[in-house]
Amino acid sequence: MAEAASSLLVLRDVCLRFGGLQALMDISLHVPAGLWSALIGPNGAGKTSMLNVICGLYAPQAGDVLLEGRSLYGVPAYERAVLGLARTFQTVQLVQEMNVLDNLLLGLHTQGRVGVFGHLLRSSASRREERKMQEKGLELLARFSLETLWSRPVLELSLWQRKLLELSRAVAGDPKLLLLDEPMGGLTMAERESMALLLQDLRGQGMSMIMVEHDMDMVMAHTDHVLVLHHGRLLAQGPPREIQADPQVISAYLGE
Ligand SMILES: Nc1ncnc2c1ncn2[C@@H]1O[C@H](COP(=O)(O)OP(=O)(O)OP(=O)(O)O)[C@@H](O)[C@H]1O
Ligand SMILES: [Mg+2]
Repeated sequence: MAEAASSLLVLRDVCLRFGGLQALMDISLHVPAGLWSALIGPNGAGKTSMLNVICGLYAPQAGDVLLEGRSLYGVPAYERAVLGLARTFQTVQLVQEMNVLDNLLLGLHTQGRVGVFGHLLRSSASRREERKMQEKGLELLARFSLETLWSRPVLELSLWQRKLLELSRAVAGDPKLLLLDEPMGGLTMAERESMALLLQDLRGQGMSMIMVEHDMDMVMAHTDHVLVLHHGRLLAQGPPREIQADPQVISAYLGE
């Protein structure tokens, strides 16, 4: 219980089914604040499903998710974003019809104070807020070296640039917990290294992260804590060195 109180994120007996398929079985875990955690497991193990349950895209049939001790039961995804959960997707999710800056601004709207009616009426407070957000958006793009592309349609971006834009949108609202679904998937070795450095910087600034990743070298080199899923069950969790030496993990995953 004391552990639960000091945890940033808690999952309690989470079960998720799709028809007859049990995607997550009795998952209970604690994630302390300030850690870069890796979520690993073979294809189909339930990694993306777990992130979807945490951020509210999937409602589990049983169990609960708590953020800073607060139950998120029945809290929709957009409210969870306001409470401090942000994510990136296994397949980058950007609005193709919008330009780079407008896509980024979607991540900043969790911070707006004017509200929908203020914006509809285009009040002076709404215009001020919009200007402020655009400035902040451009600053963020600069941080991720995307500033010269701000007016380009996202269709023109490379995968690396789209991954960067999705990451900058996720951190725009200054989340308490960042969920990253294979942020390095499909990237070249050099891009993967650059992404790792960016994530290391974010962790250095105190951001907590859960990252789905298949590359064990990357997990070993950078993360603080590892969660292992196998056939929807939490097989093991612990520091990377312990996980790498865990016989159960080796036979279930690393040996495959
Ligand atoms: N929306 C859905 N409807 C039906 N089944 C689903 C759905 N989402 C996931 N599943 C199933 O749940 C299981 C876990 O899938 P999930 O995508 O969470 O795995 P994963 O660990 O992320 O795999 P990968 O490494 O391939 O991304 C799989 O058997 C998958 O087919
Ligand atoms: Mg997945």
